Amino acid sequence: MKKQIVTKTRSLTEETEKLLNKQIHLEGMSSAYYLSMASWCDKEGYSISAEFLYRHSEEERHHMLKIFGYINDAGGHALQPVIETITHDFKSLRQIFELILDHEISVTHAINKLVDHCFIIKDFTTFHFLNWFVLEQREEETLARRALELFDIIGEEGVGLWTIDQEIGKLESFAQKPGPDGESKAPE
Ligand SMILES: [Fe+2]
Ligand SMILES: [Fe+2]
Repeated sequence: MKKQIVTKTRSLTEETEKLLNKQIHLEGMSSAYYLSMASWCDKEGYSISAEFLYRHSEEERHHMLKIFGYINDAGGHALQPVIETITHDFKSLRQIFELILDHEISVTHAINKLVDHCFIIKDFTTFHFLNWFVLEQREEETLARRALELFDIIGEEGVGLWTIDQEIGKLESFAQKPGPDGESKAPE
């Protein structure tokens, strides 16, 4: 195991800082990816999906900034990610939600790897910090799965796509429904 360097001015190991910066890159990538998808939906006339994705892009930026704050507060240095490989063209609305689900599953894997690393080196503070992301990923995947189900249930013929676009606008309130403790989840 790598030597842990935790000092009076730094409560993160360099390895953990590096991994958290990688996660920053991934969240920044999500934000850029969803912005690109939002723009495509906007130009294609899927205005509700576009709004949903513009909001989602903003949320991903907040996820990124959450990690910025955490790294810098812990004595590290959060790095603005360079995002280069963004797709601008998509085949269909359905393809967009398929790509979102694939992307969110890969983000979940990255978060799980990070959590696992923190557990192994016994960095329980970062482990605790990351729990928020673990739960967030569950919600993100559920949203994408529900969106894809709409295509199967409603169908894309006739006014199908128009109806799917309307229904996508209602998905967030579904994700924010009160939890078992009765508390309504605030959007993040
Ligand atoms: Fe995220
Ligand atoms: Fe996400």
